Amino acid sequence: MDKRYQKTTKPLTITDLQAMKQGGEKISCLTAYDASFSSLLDKVGIDLLLVGDSLGMVIQGQASTVPVTMTDMIYHSRCVARARRRAFVVADLPFMSYATLKMALQNAAALMQSGGAQMVKFEGAKPEIISALVAEGVPVCGHLGLLPQSINQLGGYRVQGKDSQAAQKIIEDAQKIEQAGASLLVLECVPSSLAQQICRQLSIPVIGIGAGADCDGQILVLYDILNIDSGRKPRFFKDFLAESGSIESAVQLYHSEVKEGLYPGPEHSY
Ligand code: KIV
Repeated sequence: MDKRYQKTTKPLTITDLQAMKQGGEKISCLTAYDASFSSLLDKVGIDLLLVGDSLGMVIQGQASTVPVTMTDMIYHSRCVARARRRAFVVADLPFMSYATLKMALQNAAALMQSGGAQMVKFEGAKPEIISALVAEGVPVCGHLGLLPQSINQLGGYRVQGKDSQAAQKIIEDAQKIEQAGASLLVLECVPSSLAQQICRQLSIPVIGIGAGADCDGQILVLYDILNIDSGRKPRFFKDFLAESGSIESAVQLYHSEVKEGLYPGPEHSY
């Protein structure tokens, strides 16, 4: 566990994550889908566990996150929430589960009440949905850049915000998300210069995946840091297990490299 937290397993709150941004401490995040990994990641000191809808691919063997249901998300969120002691738990609202305000409110309530999540994340800039959730006491994490739930519109997993018009749109969306009351923002697969600009402009913590070293924190899919999938690897991929003797050491290495600003390096960034 990170030295600063060795003596405490006090559950982290959104205020602690905010204080990390203000204090310049990087936030270490990983996806988790079950109780065993939740407990291991928590023990190592990972700050935030995301029950990502990436479970559709890495757990269920689906081709994308699109088939993931609320029933799946509640089940996995409950498994993760039950086993963690200190880490902050965020769960994804799956495809189409926040298509209307009413659906977003009902499904966010289910993720928190039945799934034990402390915050919900959803893709895209939907300020009216964010403000309605926040008004009801639901903490929200936005998600911009590459939006995997829109893969059938995008036609492929590509870096987003490369030209100035697309970059400007992401900057404006990030501002709208913060202004609507979100507490966190995930930025996926964007040039590091764009991510740096957004991190500086926003007061909420920005967590990057393929978004460069200047983000306030980093997140990766757990199974990717363990190199479980033999498929094509994105640029930000790093096999932490190859450099460690065990799964626990691989998670520890990831955690310390994020905290020390060693991961991601320029070779992992766009
Ligand atoms: O579902 C997921 O795992 C995610 C991360 C890639 C950020 O949204």
